[in-house]
Amino acid sequence: MGTVIRTPHPREKRIIFKNIDRPGYTPGIDSYFADGGYEELRKAFTMKPQDIVAEVKASGLRGRGGAGFPCGAKWGFIRPGETKPVYLICNADESEPGTFKDRYIIHQDPHQLLEGMIISCYAVNARLAYIYIRGEFPLGAKILERALAEARAHGFLGKNVLGTGFDLEIYIFRGAGAYICGEETGLIESLEGKRPYPRIKPPYFPAALGLYMAPTIVNNVETLCNVKHIIRMGGAEYARIGRPNNTGTRVLCVSGDVQKPGYYELEVGAITLGELIHDVCSGLKPGRKLKAVIPGGSSAKVLRAGERYKLKTKQPDGSMAEREIGIEEVPMDFDSLAAAGSMAGSGGVIVMDDSRDMVWALNNINEFYAHESCGQCTPCREGSLWMKKLTARMLDGGAVPADPDTLKSVADNIAGRTICAFGEACAWPTQSFVAKFRDEFAGYAARNVPAGGHGNGNAESQP
Ligand SMILES: Cc1cc2nc3c(=O)[nH]c(=O)nc-3n(C[C@H](O)[C@H](O)[C@H](O)COP(=O)(O)O)c2cc1C
Ligand code: SF4
Repeated sequence: MGTVIRTPHPREKRIIFKNIDRPGYTPGIDSYFADGGYEELRKAFTMKPQDIVAEVKASGLRGRGGAGFPCGAKWGFIRPGETKPVYLICNADESEPGTFKDRYIIHQDPHQLLEGMIISCYAVNARLAYIYIRGEFPLGAKILERALAEARAHGFLGKNVLGTGFDLEIYIFRGAGAYICGEETGLIESLEGKRPYPRIKPPYFPAALGLYMAPTIVNNVETLCNVKHIIRMGGAEYARIGRPNNTGTRVLCVSGDVQKPGYYELEVGAITLGELIHDVCSGLKPGRKLKAVIPGGSSAKVLRAGERYKLKTKQPDGSMAEREIGIEEVPMDFDSLAAAGSMAGSGGVIVMDDSRDMVWALNNINEFYAHESCGQCTPCREGSLWMKKLTARMLDGGAVPADPDTLKSVADNIAGRTICAFGEACAWPTQSFVAKFRDEFAGYAARNVPAGGHGNGNAESQP
C-alpha cells in the first residue's frame, strides 16, 4: 500500500492518528520512543489491574469495531480470580466495506497498538494475546512481526515484562480473507484452526466462553490504541473529549462522491454529517447534490437527503429537549446516528450524490454479502443470494413490479433469524434502500431497460 502524505484538516483532533503521515515518523521503535512511546505502559504497571479497568470504564470508551459496546464493561465481565487462562484478541480483520483506518495504524504506528494491547492484557490478566489480521494485509503482518520483535528485545514482551513479574506473549495470526472472520466468534473459530462459523450468543459470549472456551476479550485495533491515551490522561479527562456516552475521537473513513475522501480523526459528535461532507471533505463534486449517505460501513442503514429525524439532547439542567433535524445536521456520534435510524458502526462513511443509481448501489452491496455469507443459517445463506439475484436481474432489464416488495420480504425474513449479526448486516441495506428509494426501485419495472444498461452505477448514463 503506497503512503500518501496528508496534512490533517484543521478540524481534526488527532490522538490515535497523531503519527500517521507525520514526516520522518517510521514504524520502528526508535520513532516511537522519540514520541514518548511505552511511557504509558510503565505508568500502567504502577497501577493495579482493576484500577486500569476502572479508568477505562470512567473514560466511556466504546468499541470502534462496529457495535460500539462499552470497552470497560466488556473487560468487567472477566471475573476477578478467574482460574481459566484469559486471552485477548486484537481484531485487525478490518473487513467492513468503506472502512480503512486500522491498516494505517498497523502500517505506520504499530507500537501504539502494541502498547495499548500490553496495557489491556495487564488490566484483564491475559498472558497470551493474538492479533488476528486479515489475509489481504501481508505487509501489515510483516510490520507487526518486526514491531513485536523490537518490543520483545526491549523487555515489553516475554517473561517478566519490565521486571514486573507479568509474563506476556503476543502472536500474529493471519486470516485467509473472509468478511465473517471479523465477526468475533467466527474469528475465534478461525483462530482455533477451524472454518470461521460464528457461534451462537448466548452462550458463546467471548468474555465468558471464547478462545478454547476460556474468557476472551476481543477488541478492535482503534479501541485498543485508545487505552494507552486513557492511561496518559486518566479516564475522567478522556471522557471530556466528545459528548456524554459518546466520548473520545473517532477515525472516520470517508469514501464516495466527495472532493476529498480519506481518513479524518474527529472528536466524536463535534461535527455534523453536513460539516464532514462540505467542510472537512471539501464538498461534493461540482454541480452535484447530496442523495444519500451510509454513515457506518456498508451494513449501516442508508440515510436519504431530505429526511427529517427527531433528535433528543440532554440539556444542562438535565432535562431532555427534542428537535427535528435533517441528515446533514446529524452529529457524527453513536447515539445521534442511532436516533437517525442508522449507526456509527465501523466509521466508514460512504457518500452518494445525485448521479448514483440506488439499485446499482444496492446490487453492489448485495454481491458482497451474498459472497461472504458463511452459509450456516438458511435465511442468510439463501436470502443474501436471492437479494443479489433480484437486484442483478433488475439491472439486467428483468425488473417486475413486485421487486420492491419481494426484496423487502426477503430482507425481513433474514434480520433477527440468524446465528450472527451478519444477518442484520446484509438485510439492513436492502430494507433501508427499498424503503427510502422505493420510487427508484419501482421505476425499474416501468422502464424498458436493455440488458446491461445499468452497469456503471451512474444514473445519467442510463436510458
Ligand atoms: C459480520 C461482522 C463483521 C465484523 N467485522 C469486524 C471487523 O472487521 N473488525 C472489527 O474490529 N470488528 C468487526 N466486527 C465486530 C466484532 O464482532 C466485535 O464486535 C469487535 O471486534 C469488538 O471490538 P470493539 O468492542 O473494540 O469494537 C464485525 C461484526 C460482524 C457481525
Ligand atoms: S448469519 Fe450468515 S454469516 Fe452469520 S452464521 Fe448465519 S449464515 Fe453465517
